[in-house]
Amino acid sequence: MKKDKVIVFDTTLRDGEQAAPASLSVDQKLRIARQLARLGVDVIEAGFPISSPGDFESVSTIAKEFKKEGPGVCGLARLVPKDIEACAKAVKPAAWPRVHTFIGTSAIHTEKKLRKSEDEVLAFIRDSVKLARRLCADVEFSAEDAGRTDIDYLCRVVETAIKAGASTINIPDTVGYTAPEQFGSIISQLFNRVPNIDKAIISVHCHNDLGMATANSLTAISHGARQVECTVNGIGERAGNAALEEVVMALKLRGDFFKVQTGVNTREIMHTSKMVREILNMPVQPNKAIVGSNAFAHSSGIHQDGVLKAKNTYEIMTPQSVGLKDNRMNLTSRSGSHIIKTRLADLGYPATDYDLQAVYAKFKALADKKGTVYDDDLVTLMEAANHDDMKDTFTLEYLNVSSGTGTVPTATVRISEDGNKITPASACGYGAVHAMTKAIDKIVGYRIKIGDFHIDAITEGQDALARVTIRASAAEGSFVGNGVSMDIVEASAFAYMDIINKIARMKKFGRKIKTVTIIDS
Ligand code: KIV
Ligand code: ZN
Repeated sequence: MKKDKVIVFDTTLRDGEQAAPASLSVDQKLRIARQLARLGVDVIEAGFPISSPGDFESVSTIAKEFKKEGPGVCGLARLVPKDIEACAKAVKPAAWPRVHTFIGTSAIHTEKKLRKSEDEVLAFIRDSVKLARRLCADVEFSAEDAGRTDIDYLCRVVETAIKAGASTINIPDTVGYTAPEQFGSIISQLFNRVPNIDKAIISVHCHNDLGMATANSLTAISHGARQVECTVNGIGERAGNAALEEVVMALKLRGDFFKVQTGVNTREIMHTSKMVREILNMPVQPNKAIVGSNAFAHSSGIHQDGVLKAKNTYEIMTPQSVGLKDNRMNLTSRSGSHIIKTRLADLGYPATDYDLQAVYAKFKALADKKGTVYDDDLVTLMEAANHDDMKDTFTLEYLNVSSGTGTVPTATVRISEDGNKITPASACGYGAVHAMTKAIDKIVGYRIKIGDFHIDAITEGQDALARVTIRASAAEGSFVGNGVSMDIVEASAFAYMDIINKIARMKKFGRKIKTVTIIDS
């Protein structure tokens, strides 16, 4: 192996899945495994075969998927024969099967959890790693809680595991306790003190309890570790594991400093991240490094102005390098008139079409009320600044919905147009929202296709306020509508009416809008 290559060992399907709200089906794991292969990870830890028949099947299905080529497929096993045997059997069909076996080595683990002496643990390591080696050519051994293990004992543990046949030695900071310099020093000491260390690759597996998982992993790499264990979006036990996207992008972007490479195709990062959040039902915080929805979004007027002049003023990597189309400028009350002018030009409205100062004043007033202003709002504002008319055409006067088990969802609505009452309309649908939109469509007569429907509780408790955001397209353009209510169907109706009124304005002013701001990246 080249000295400057870092093996990326992905444990999203094992350590990550352990922390998911529900365990994954074989099919779901297989979909993620295929995407991890496209991402270019070197080893997929697919599960813990002895833990359940379902996990055994997942590991063996993934092993069969990569039976000719692709990443190595690894399973986890405690240091006991039945685990190791099941694991070896599950990974066997893969072209590159690996058994990963582990035991706690810190005094806290050996004395309190295992109730074994240090020598007894060493004997287990020797015998079990030998067994694993007889069943599988590639064996990884982990000294669980290595970060809190006495360094003299850890050196003996590592030497024993290598002598017994482990070709990868993993040093986990299981509880995320170790500081980066300490962790780097553990790795250096292993290189300096373990006589047979050159016969194995040193791996690290860092947890994020103090937010130091990425820093610890990178520091270990600087001290000679050549395998890094991580998960997509940093999911995993408790506060999670080192995030694959952070470690990989740091190594890529700061190649000048770390002087190593991975085989990851970073343009697949975003797609992988989204798949993992959706399948595992684990959303990502907006400010999450690399993959959060704000990671390439600029909000402050000063930053937006800087990025418009030169991207590298506030962007250290391109959005394209992680698989995003572009960065995003959030139009909020902090935005300056420069971005408003640029955005309107992107939407097809040259500055000669409107009075920038008048549009900007209206923009500020709306942004103060609403928070984020979307492209369709901006076009409406511009039209309103020109025509001085921002009033809604349609108002929802009455809404009655009936739905439930064994009933046909039905909605009745009454809408007024420019203050004049319109006859009510009713419609049935597959659900309450469907019935409501059909009833509204009957009155206003627009052809609207809903693309995306989001519902969020914006306050706490059963009586929380709901905010509904609908993204939709129509012949007049694409639109985002928002509605807030304690009743989710009413909030949906308000969001839908928001879109209806935006279309009404477009029709009135005879313009089309081309695009709409993407809410999340
Ligand atoms: O955190 C840990 O120590 C682990 C081991 C099983 C590698 O997940
Ligand atoms: Zn772990």
